[in-house]
Amino acid sequence: MYKIPANTLFVGKNLVFVPDCPSTNTLALQMSQQSPVKEGTLVITDNQTAGKGQRGNVWEAEPRQNLTFSLILKPGFLGINKQFYLNVVICLALKDYLKDKIPGTVYIKWPNDILVHEKKISGVLIENQLQGAVISNSIVGIGLNMNQKKFVSETATSVSIVTGEEQILSDELVLILSHIEARYLRLRAGEHNALMMEYLASLYRRHEKHEFTSDGKVFLGEILDLDEWGKLRIKIDDEVRAFGVKEVQYV
Ligand code: BTN
Repeated sequence: MYKIPANTLFVGKNLVFVPDCPSTNTLALQMSQQSPVKEGTLVITDNQTAGKGQRGNVWEAEPRQNLTFSLILKPGFLGINKQFYLNVVICLALKDYLKDKIPGTVYIKWPNDILVHEKKISGVLIENQLQGAVISNSIVGIGLNMNQKKFVSETATSVSIVTGEEQILSDELVLILSHIEARYLRLRAGEHNALMMEYLASLYRRHEKHEFTSDGKVFLGEILDLDEWGKLRIKIDDEVRAFGVKEVQYV
């Protein structure tokens, strides 16, 4: 029922659909470890029963209502110090897709949540395998809330809630994949700076004063930008500190 995209070179050309599975990221990883898998291979399910989120969280998605899929990429051109650029291109691709689709501004909440109207519509979990100083294999897991109407979390939303229209998952997937490939090719072409500028331009709460927590302490700070490793640089009083993903939370 999912279609192989006609307008991509490699992303989604090899499409593996499973009616249900615990996690498409786990399945994609197993596949890539068992035998050689083509770059751009897509693993997608209609019913992910134990979806993995960032920071060890669970990703919940009602069966057949949402897009839950993983892409296998082989960014051998990307040094490990540039890993964060995969987050950058995937978030920008999701933003590209959503901004054509829905009214209102689409924000990227560092590191890789996509927000609409202050609510999370999509999450990304990227799991990289390293070989020496480069990324040999990357499992890019994407959860995009499409037709689900009710969420356990009050801070979640979906495309159909925002647009008031039911979405045809297979058609939307084709659009998303072409955005992903376009952004990824720009990374492969070395457009790091331009991509980072676009990411920063969409960064949620950038240049605003808000509360954060770190090490159990609450503090007021202003997001400036990211450092070269993708850490979040926050201005706190007159000092600037860089935080890794597990080191800071938004309040
Ligand atoms: C997050 O925001 O916490 C990341 C969520 C990532 C969810 C996707 S759904 C498809 C893929 N398979 C998984 O187990 N997780 C990712």
